Amino acid sequence: MEQVTEIDHPVVKRYLSILRDKNTETAPFRRAMGTIGTILAAEALTDLPLQEYEVETPIQTATGYKPAAEVFVIPILRAGLSLVDGIISFMPDAKVGHIGVYRDEETHQPVNYYHNFPGGLKGAYTLVVDPMLATGGSGSHAIKFLKENGADNIRFVSLISAPEGIKRLREDHPDVPIITAAIDERLNENAFIVPGLGDAGDRYFGTL
Ligand code: PRP
Repeated sequence: MEQVTEIDHPVVKRYLSILRDKNTETAPFRRAMGTIGTILAAEALTDLPLQEYEVETPIQTATGYKPAAEVFVIPILRAGLSLVDGIISFMPDAKVGHIGVYRDEETHQPVNYYHNFPGGLKGAYTLVVDPMLATGGSGSHAIKFLKENGADNIRFVSLISAPEGIKRLREDHPDVPIITAAIDERLNENAFIVPGLGDAGDRYFGTL
């Protein structure tokens, strides 16, 4: 898998435009997140190993396939939750764990406040999910924590990424591919992605 994958798809570009638009209301914002979540999951799992088995079609026997590895989806709370519905609609057997990391508004440093995930991370495909990869502090922190708990095959799935965040994750975790729908220009002085879409968590949860 590529180290950094930026999805290039006309339908994704359309949904991204809906998400970026400050006049988009909560319901269409949520729908767009769900759809892109599904597409990101499909891209992040292109190399999922498969086990073959026989299926009987109404006509004859055919080769069927099922995943040979478990898939874990780990959203970084809170905004990471916005992509989970779309991901598990595509991969309904995936297990979902949670990590709570918030970014201190003054220092911009990640603070870990919660975690709850099932055992068995070792050998599983672990998708760490956060719509915004800004400085990369939250993502890097969450990935380090998951590695300490056995995860050994992690992909970072984000909607919009800043070059600064990509650089940080590549430096801290060169083994973790990044799958994103857009790589934006830069961060501003408040460490918000430019042009970005504002605060994804607030817009998704309607807490503006
Ligand atoms: C935002 C965003 C990411 C993080 C990105 O979360 O959802 O988790 O900041 O920034 P970073 O790459 O610089 O760490 P926020 O702190 O606003 O919390 P929320 O998810 O609860 O809205």
